[in-house]
Amino acid sequence: MKRQKGWVVTFRPDGRTIEVMHGTPLLEAARKAGVALTTRCGGKAGCLMCKVKVEDQFAAGLQPPGDTERHKLGSLLDEGVRLACQAAVWSNVTVHIPEDPLKAAVRRRLEAARRGDEDELW
Ligand code: FES
Repeated sequence: MKRQKGWVVTFRPDGRTIEVMHGTPLLEAARKAGVALTTRCGGKAGCLMCKVKVEDQFAAGLQPPGDTERHKLGSLLDEGVRLACQAAVWSNVTVHIPEDPLKAAVRRRLEAARRGDEDELW
């Protein structure tokens, strides 16, 4: 039986996984797993671009949010949203990476074009 060295983080929707040590910032785990998370503030809770959603409603796999994260996210914490730059891995956890807003807009336009839906195109 393989001895587990750390905690397994699973990133959805692509299903990539990475094993990291206790206390590793989620943003660092994502980068090690090759998961693209756009950021602009260098991991200082300033840009809010690293938001992820934890699949476990109580986010038990992550360190409880600190004052900074509570201030920045407010009620989003209740929905399982966390800042990857502030949340540290405390046990096995699965997080959902939201689709990039620009890619989502392009995808919606392409889908509308395929359907021939003129109203949704512009
Ligand atoms: S990297 Fe900017 S808020 Fe997390």
